[in-house]
Amino acid sequence: MLKVTNLKKSFNGRQILDGINFTVKDGEILCIVGPSGAGKTTILRCLTGMEQADSGEFSLDDKPFDPAKDSQRIFGVVFQDFNLFPNLSVKENITLAPTLVKKISQETADAQAAKLERQLDLTQVESQYPWQLSGGQKQRVAIARALAMKPQVLCYDEPTSALDPNLRDEVAEMILDLKKGGTTQLIITHDMDFAKKVADDLFTVKALEGQED
Ligand SMILES: Nc1ncnc2c1ncn2[C@@H]1O[C@H](COP(=O)(O)OP(=O)(O)O)[C@@H](O)[C@H]1O
Ligand SMILES: [Mg+2]
Repeated sequence: MLKVTNLKKSFNGRQILDGINFTVKDGEILCIVGPSGAGKTTILRCLTGMEQADSGEFSLDDKPFDPAKDSQRIFGVVFQDFNLFPNLSVKENITLAPTLVKKISQETADAQAAKLERQLDLTQVESQYPWQLSGGQKQRVAIARALAMKPQVLCYDEPTSALDPNLRDEVAEMILDLKKGGTTQLIITHDMDFAKKVADDLFTVKALEGQED
């Protein structure tokens, strides 16, 4: 179980997060919802060490962790615009971090990538480059790349926003399939209908006064 307690963050003296508390249970899906500008992405960035929180406690299975040091071991992140490496093929996008960071052999990384590609319907495009892919394919590569590092929690920032609206149900299905496979997921979204489709639990971030963009 991932637990966040009393997370606070200000930017330039303006309070954005004023003591946020939530938990994500193992194998479940928590959706963090709220209006644009409420601070949803900031929560994700603080949790995954991309931004330094002003205060807050973070724990995984009751063991405290420091997002700045431990986030790579704990989280996989699927960014809003996917952030794939443009100069690498699908397969290389998936195998780079396991070989470079975890130092696993290329052979093992390739076998693992092949499995993820089958799971996420990417086998046919494994030699292609990001510019050759559809939005949905790019998102699935981003998910495969994150899963290749075997994260404890897979996080998404607005998984439906960069895609055609009619792909929304497919994304929901894919996320629910990953849940069936045991993946714990934390999803940031402003899309309430989507959240209701996939969430085991919802956490609403309220915009503080004068904060809404
Ligand atoms: N690095 C930053 N510096 C200053 N202000 C920021 C920074 N990141 C986010 N903000 C501000 O914090 C607020 C919350 O942003 P964000 O977390 O992106 O909201 P959401 O994801 O809910 O739309 C916004 O007003 C945004 O402009
Ligand atoms: Mg956001």
